[in-house]
Amino acid sequence: MCIVVQADSAVISLGEFKIAPVCLREEARHAFERSVWTNREPITPRQRVRLGIDTITTLRNIMLKKINVNQLIVGMYLHEVCGSWMENPFWKSGFIITDPKEIQKILASSISDVWIDNAKGFDISSGESVADEPGSAQDEKPEALPQTKTVSVADELERAAQICAKSKRAVMAMFQEARMGAAVNTADAQKLVEDISDSINRSPNALISLARLKSADDYTYMHSVAVCALMVALSKCLHLDKAQTRSAGIAGLLHDLGKAVIPLEILGKPGKLTDEEFTVIKTHPKEGHQLLLSSSGVDDIALDVVLHHHEKTDGSGFPEGLKDSEITLYAKIGAICDVYDAITSNRPYKAGWDPSESLRKMAEWTHGHFDPKIFQAFVKSLGIYPIGSLVRLSSGRLGIVIEQSEHSLLQPSIKVFYSTYANVRIPPEIIDLSRKSCKEKIVGREDPAIWNFPDLNEIWSGLKGY
Ligand SMILES: [Fe+2]
Repeated sequence: MCIVVQADSAVISLGEFKIAPVCLREEARHAFERSVWTNREPITPRQRVRLGIDTITTLRNIMLKKINVNQLIVGMYLHEVCGSWMENPFWKSGFIITDPKEIQKILASSISDVWIDNAKGFDISSGESVADEPGSAQDEKPEALPQTKTVSVADELERAAQICAKSKRAVMAMFQEARMGAAVNTADAQKLVEDISDSINRSPNALISLARLKSADDYTYMHSVAVCALMVALSKCLHLDKAQTRSAGIAGLLHDLGKAVIPLEILGKPGKLTDEEFTVIKTHPKEGHQLLLSSSGVDDIALDVVLHHHEKTDGSGFPEGLKDSEITLYAKIGAICDVYDAITSNRPYKAGWDPSESLRKMAEWTHGHFDPKIFQAFVKSLGIYPIGSLVRLSSGRLGIVIEQSEHSLLQPSIKVFYSTYANVRIPPEIIDLSRKSCKEKIVGREDPAIWNFPDLNEIWSGLKGY
């Protein structure tokens, strides 16, 4: 029996029991939480009774109930869905079901069981059985990544770095042409997207992870390369065909071309933009669209993504304020990839966020901003802990994700390099969490800004100068 503490949602899981601490008597709860935080040994039912929880029957009455989705009724408090958070159609939990449509949403998803809190909402009828009796909780099956790789990230990085450099030069040339008022030559873009696509076929995450690393100076150009790679990977994950995937990649490479005509003092301003400056920035989709209309050989998908990659599903985006059904698949793909790269990259006014934390934040914004299904596919294409994410393992060691597992989104390979117990660097060691013999697991993300390891990118990439 293992103990898992999930502090952010205030749920304590004891393997076979899930208990909402708020339901316990206050002093017992504190004792209970202290014991969980400080005890490395499993807490037995006897210990739970000693901690002030009167009887196991009491415990069972206050614990959360796992029920089948077909047992859901309006008025129940949905505490948590079982399975990956990516399958959660609400991207949230902890609310009372007030509308039958919410139940329909769950029934239409792949979720089979949920946890309800009968202290906060309706219980199941007496006589109905819960999905799993306490003590028979099943391990959730690990999810498989949709892609297969032929070479490791480490083996592809060198080649990916060359493709990134070549792509950046091509994007710079296109921006230069646009600034000069010349028609933009997009012929090179086709070949570059082929190279990027081939790299992603060999190793789905190498080039994507590398393209995230950029200096504030070359942000605009490398952002185009990164969004191109992310759009190719996501298109593959969505099973788009080769021609559609190539079009999506070209659209990614060109999506911000309109920034070529935005004054550099606004584009590279190392501080918060004024309202007037932001109004100027917001013209870049239309400017880019106009530039490409006067260039030859640009397909409709690229034109659409250039114009609509800042639209949001709730209609609050720009330039046209389109709503969900009015935004195309490609523009929705572009919007997700654009935001992910923007928030994970170093900018003149802020350091990039950790990749895993960025996905968590984007999941919070999904409602109203992104298409949830496409965002789920995006997370599957990168992993819940994308390469370069800083994580803490159950042993207390810190490590960085260096490779995804083909078997589970939750069990990547980690290069550990720091002991939080001794507060010292330790000799780097690679641990494959998906190996059956591995006892370690990820217990949480860590904020790189707090730890401030200067060589974090070098640790996972092995490349100097990043
Ligand atoms: Fe943009």
